[in-house]
Amino acid sequence: MAAHQPLDLAELDATPLPSRGKGLPLQAGGVLPGQVAAQGWAALRDLPTPFCLIRRSALDHNRRIMSDYLARSGIQLCPHGKTTLAPRLLSLQAQDGAWGFTAATLDHLRLYRRHGIARVIFANQLVDPLAIRFVAEELDRDAAFDISVLVDSADGLDLMLGELGARDGARPLGVLVEMGAAGGRTGLRDPGEALALARRIAASAGVALRGVEAYEGAFAGGDKQDIARRVGGLLDDTATLANAIAAEGLFAPGRPIVTAGGSSLFEQVVNTFRARLDFEAQIVLRSGCYLTDDHGFYAASRPEIGASTGVSQPFKPALEVWGHVQSRPQADLCILTLGKRDVSYDLGLPLPILWAPQGAPERPRPLGEGFEILRLNDQHAYMRTPADHSVRVGDRVGVGISHPCTTFDKWRFLALVDDDGRIEEIVETFF
Ligand SMILES: Cc1ncc(COP(=O)(O)O)c(C=O)c1O
Repeated sequence: MAAHQPLDLAELDATPLPSRGKGLPLQAGGVLPGQVAAQGWAALRDLPTPFCLIRRSALDHNRRIMSDYLARSGIQLCPHGKTTLAPRLLSLQAQDGAWGFTAATLDHLRLYRRHGIARVIFANQLVDPLAIRFVAEELDRDAAFDISVLVDSADGLDLMLGELGARDGARPLGVLVEMGAAGGRTGLRDPGEALALARRIAASAGVALRGVEAYEGAFAGGDKQDIARRVGGLLDDTATLANAIAAEGLFAPGRPIVTAGGSSLFEQVVNTFRARLDFEAQIVLRSGCYLTDDHGFYAASRPEIGASTGVSQPFKPALEVWGHVQSRPQADLCILTLGKRDVSYDLGLPLPILWAPQGAPERPRPLGEGFEILRLNDQHAYMRTPADHSVRVGDRVGVGISHPCTTFDKWRFLALVDDDGRIEEIVETFF
């Protein structure tokens, strides 16, 4: 892994942990982040349930796999920071050589700027005057700040230009035309219309046409062949648009950016762009979830990143949420002390994977077959249990998750642990 600059974490490092907060050891109050490893805390001994942990070995594995993939393929990564919104984790991605970070909201952008992130793709159209003004002020204030925002309509362009006003002599705002597809999310549906918008952008003062963007992840989930076909169509249109803009010489000076790619289909993105782009583009992925992967949605849609690069190992799930068995009202049902407040449920329910019986050593064991989370309430999980299994009230159960983004946002503090469950760091999020 090439070593690059970490983020500026000085403010975080100087701030002691609070004395309460979900996911913290009871004795955390007043401990500085840098003193955590020396406390000798163990997740299964010192964290009240529910708690969420990140396994360092899986995290490091995923970092390595992605870094190798990028190095071999010559692609840049601008990870979507909204997955974790944890400066400590973004800093690891920066150290791994992230080209920049992707943001979706003004709040993300402000967090990034606070921690010294210089290059940002704002993967949305800027429609909020407060956001437009913040961006303009940052451009004027800091010559190193580099941002590219999406535009998918003349309305969006006009709104942004109107709010930017005449900024005499100021650096222009970077713009990426967003290509979309029917049934998808934002983005122009037709490459011809997108080219017309690109011409307009190129002719407008105050903005610089930097490249082209698409997000294929809006099609993820469901029948794999159907998704591959629809994503293929979107990526083809994106390449067609980029080639047409390049042929007309509309891109601003510099290597044009062509960006797409979440964590589930990025190899298709890379292969398509490499095959179809007929000019020297900077291909940029924006994957965020690869960092922790999961046991559900991403595990099922993992990119086969071996085929074109020789990197054969897939990502490993790094996140677990733990709860106690607080009731076994029927032989075939356990109720756990974790619920919708604690774990994602938008792309599948959590999966029971680990068991720490009362009084047992701190190394949990696999739970085995036949367990399933049937549903969640706010603070409870209903776990189908094989009637002859000896799991009992007071034992702890660890669940794998499906969708990192919507698990991270339920935790202000997550414990980063080694393979023996010792807490090495407390990771703070800023949702
Ligand atoms: C526009 C955009 N780019 C990139 C990503 C990152 O994709 P993933 O969460 O699969 O890593 C997302 C995720 O929602 C997104 O909306």
